[in-house]
Amino acid sequence: MHVLMINGSPHQWGCTWRALSEVALGLQEGGVDSEILWLGDGAMAGCTDCGYCRPAGQCVFDDLVNEVSAQAAREDGFVFGAPVYFSGVPGSMTSFMDRLFFSRGSGDADPFALKPAACVVSARRAGTTAALDQFQKYLTIAEMPVVSSRYWPMVHGNTPAEVEQDLEGLQVMRVLGRNMAWMLANIAAGRAAGVPRPKQERRLGTNFVR
Ligand SMILES: Cc1cc2nc3c(=O)[nH]c(=O)nc-3n(C[C@H](O)[C@H](O)[C@H](O)COP(=O)(O)O)c2cc1C
Repeated sequence: MHVLMINGSPHQWGCTWRALSEVALGLQEGGVDSEILWLGDGAMAGCTDCGYCRPAGQCVFDDLVNEVSAQAAREDGFVFGAPVYFSGVPGSMTSFMDRLFFSRGSGDADPFALKPAACVVSARRAGTTAALDQFQKYLTIAEMPVVSSRYWPMVHGNTPAEVEQDLEGLQVMRVLGRNMAWMLANIAAGRAAGVPRPKQERRLGTNFVR
């Protein structure tokens, strides 16, 4: 089994990476391999609501979003990580997540539905729970079982060396990794035992109801 982790910080080896690498340890203990994919430090286009993805099944901007979307079909679970910017998810990661989740297919073409996932954040001091609230909305609109830990998944620090001192935060990350490995093992056992996927319905859009 394999979990894809996305580092949504402009710092490849920063605090978010430190948090994700601790999740990787927990996953590894549970026999699950993982990879940390860095978003980069360049500009990330935002969703323009052009509608291209609806028939095409991929984003009109052919960049990392489409690469991750294609890779996602082969993954068993996901961890999305980001630093906290002004109590929210940074603009580049928000743009990435908007396009990744808006352009996902539906039914059997949806690479995310029913796959366990988690979001983790790193912050110097505050805004973590507000950012997590925003971050996890992508998972819970996409039928993804959200894996929890023994505290909300955050680490504190401005540098990886500071995060190293946040022993509680790092423990939360390790436990998160172990819990995700356990959930993946259970899903695999259920599949082997013949537990069917839930019945699917066509998505309804009653946009006029308020
Ligand atoms: C534009 C910007 C806004 C930030 N806003 C916050 C904030 O609201 N709360 C906070 O605690 N830290 C804030 N920080 C600090 C980062 O969240 C913190 O240093 C984080 O751990 C960096 O993670 P990274 O090394 O993975 O990039 C901000 C940093 C930047 C650059």
